[in-house]
Amino acid sequence: MHTPIIAANWKMHKTVSEAVDFISGLKKEEATFSDRRVIVAPPFTALRPAADALSGSSIGLAAQNMSYAESGAFTGEVSAGMITDAGCTYVIIGHSERRHLFGETNEQINKKLVLAFKEGLKPIFCIGETLQEREADETISLIRQQITEGLINISAGDIDSLIIAYEPVWAIGTGRTATPEQAEEVHRVIKETVQEISDKGGTPTVPVIYGGSVNEQTIESLMNQDNIDGVLVGGASLKLESFLNIIRFRASVLPEGE
Ligand code: PGA
Repeated sequence: MHTPIIAANWKMHKTVSEAVDFISGLKKEEATFSDRRVIVAPPFTALRPAADALSGSSIGLAAQNMSYAESGAFTGEVSAGMITDAGCTYVIIGHSERRHLFGETNEQINKKLVLAFKEGLKPIFCIGETLQEREADETISLIRQQITEGLINISAGDIDSLIIAYEPVWAIGTGRTATPEQAEEVHRVIKETVQEISDKGGTPTVPVIYGGSVNEQTIESLMNQDNIDGVLVGGASLKLESFLNIIRFRASVLPEGE
């Protein structure tokens, strides 16, 4: 059983002051979610101010992307070293918007993962099928391919600090969440595949989180599944109140007064 991971992907939303205000509000409530691993992923421009606002807190900071190159003449790109320098511990890699809108390939994503680990970052590695692939019954083979090609040359030790996000492309920003059972089935395959690659045997340990139209209404039934270890939330993470309600799913289990 993993500590539930609740991550906010703000995509191309929030100015510096909006990000800092949100984080200040989130920090004030931190005592009410000490049994959750909460991560926020602001846009690049707000990373350093967000890191400063998070000081003294255990809320994690993630970048939404990074370059597949270490440094050099790559106008407009941001390196793993730069996001670490800006105060990030995590980085989202291979988000479906990067794959589909910006043409990122499994090969480029693999290079990013290698560099992220080299830099000591914890990647949130995103995978998921399109509606067309699901309807053609290709979900499982596609997922297995994204994992095996994404994790080439990644050591079993590094895989220990990996988080995988299963985000079916047809569920992102569409209001159409995968059913908890659909997500659970894929999460199980993901864990088994990662276990095979890291040649470990035994019970799979990689945390797998679900993303795609998660909200206050769907969080509890998703988190009731054995193999869903958390969520990556886009739209519903933009307002503090709704993100807090997601973080505090099943809040009744928390001690009184917290
Ligand atoms: P959504 O985005 O919650 O708005 O569907 C999730 C994501 O893309 O990470």
